[in-house]
Amino acid sequence: MRWSNLFVPTLREAPAEAEVASHRLLLRAGFIRQLHSGHYSLLPLGLRVHDKVADIVREEMDAIGGQELLLPAMHPAWVWEQSGRWTSMGEEMFRLTDRKGAEVALGMTHEEVIALCAREIHSYREVPQIWYQIQWKFRDEPRPKSGLLRVREFAMKDSYSLDIDDAGLDRAFDLHHGAYTRIFERMGLPAIAVEASSGAMGGSASVEFMVPSDAGEDDIVRCGNCGYAANVERAVATVAPVDDPPGGALERFATPGIRTIAALAAAVAEAPPERQIKTMVFVLDGQVTLVLLRGDHALSVQKLLDNTGAATARPAAAEECAAALGASPGSLGAVGVSDLPVLADGALAGRSNLTTGANVDDFHFRGVDIERDIHVSAWLDLRQVGHGEPCTGCGRPLELLRCIETGHIFKLGRRYAEAFETTVMDADGVARTLTMGSYGIGIGRAVAAVAETHHDERGLCWPASVAPYEVAVVPIAGRDETVTEVAERLYDELRGLGVEVILDDRDARPGVKFSDIELVGIPFRVTVGPRGLANGEVELTERASGETTNVAVAEAAAEVRAARDAALAAL
Ligand SMILES: Nc1ncnc2c1ncn2[C@@H]1O[C@H](COP(=O)(O)OP(=O)(O)OP(=O)(O)O)[C@@H](O)[C@H]1O
Ligand SMILES: [Mg+2]
Ligand SMILES: [Zn+2]
Repeated sequence: MRWSNLFVPTLREAPAEAEVASHRLLLRAGFIRQLHSGHYSLLPLGLRVHDKVADIVREEMDAIGGQELLLPAMHPAWVWEQSGRWTSMGEEMFRLTDRKGAEVALGMTHEEVIALCAREIHSYREVPQIWYQIQWKFRDEPRPKSGLLRVREFAMKDSYSLDIDDAGLDRAFDLHHGAYTRIFERMGLPAIAVEASSGAMGGSASVEFMVPSDAGEDDIVRCGNCGYAANVERAVATVAPVDDPPGGALERFATPGIRTIAALAAAVAEAPPERQIKTMVFVLDGQVTLVLLRGDHALSVQKLLDNTGAATARPAAAEECAAALGASPGSLGAVGVSDLPVLADGALAGRSNLTTGANVDDFHFRGVDIERDIHVSAWLDLRQVGHGEPCTGCGRPLELLRCIETGHIFKLGRRYAEAFETTVMDADGVARTLTMGSYGIGIGRAVAAVAETHHDERGLCWPASVAPYEVAVVPIAGRDETVTEVAERLYDELRGLGVEVILDDRDARPGVKFSDIELVGIPFRVTVGPRGLANGEVELTERASGETTNVAVAEAAAEVRAARDAALAAL
């Protein structure tokens, strides 16, 4: 490709609303343009990177026996009704009505359609199957943000495994785990596989692939020592025991104006945060519920959902608290509450001589023995782990890391196959419901994650495996015929050697060409200039390190290809 034919609308400045590096640089370097919030055009360079990411994913899916298919993006409502997700997907699903009045939806994911297709598998001899597609997904995200990282329309590689038994599902899951590890390595992403919440999908095992980046929206904890890693939505840590002083009869006392854990701790010597009970009132699927944690611990709402099985949880409004308990937030407690579910975090088990709200404004109880004084309906893990807490495996401090979720693999089990009566005959002629796994990688999000991971102050810095072009040949000193000739020859030779090369044939100053090529992030630059040619040499510059070496013209093409091959092999 000649630069003069290429559409690369670079910008001197990124629009102010672009906060994260990948968003800024993909805009500035002319890879993407926003049409409207959450919907981006992939310009030629952007599409090339997107295609390369998709091809890596394809190769690794094929390598584990995946078969590519393509399912419709638009689905009839009944398919989602049959699985129960027409309602549960809520506002995240785009819905529309066709001219005949039929309700349809834009697919957020394709478990239903797959379970339907799999009805044509009849015998145990026809499984296992792994089916995958790279298809556009539509999600009406509440907050599209950060360029390609969170959009409303994106290409996802989604695959689905179909097996007759749990052992088969385990195998398919492990195959995907391996494939995802290779996929992210090949695109230069240091993805960490973490235990994840199974969320609203149900199912038994769920692993997310997380790329450390401040541009992400997920937090994980990781133990640098034993390798434990989990999304904070699921992570556990050891809680150091607290020595409660003995004694302590239940006693109500006045706490005028005190409404927070910190204020109570400041005012009452015997009530440091770890000796208080934090009482939160939630509405879980419509049921007002008390949620208790140690005063200095934070609630994980995802754990609350996962460990109760509730579909929705929201904090109760002040009026709902007053109606249920007779007091305002800040004075609430569970002592004596018997008509509402009370969920307590495990870190409170066995604790005594604690302080908590008395359900009378401006009063608290001291001397609370949780097992004696509070009717706990269920002990659950509800607490969000914090940075530096001890690993349950080895005791070393856990590290909290902000990450981008680039992939998710998931054992679904039989839920969808049951909904669609997707059964096969086993060896004894008995109908058995298939068990499924579902596995996703966002292609555009992976592109953005690579950009987040590989850039510097001069621009993007693509790993060779996903770069829009691998090499740029740059003739300098415009009208020198030998320079042009050598550059053209190198361009042809490199193409002949299977290198993706761009010839910067623009009539522009070298500085302009160099900075554009650096901004766009081409891994290698070959500079052809009169001074080097006088010695029979051209310059080879590596984008990532900035290192330049002189290469004999005659060997240049072969050396550049070798450098490209070495860069690919290093991934
Ligand atoms: N709004 C989005 N924009 C871009 N990529 C997305 C988006 N939502 C999901 N993905 C990608 O699709 C993959 C599989 O989808 P999945 O349903 O597991 O995501 P998710 O759990 O909803 O992600 P998130 O928690 O970030 O919303 C994700 O790992 C991610 O790479
Ligand atoms: Mg989501
Ligand atoms: Zn550990």
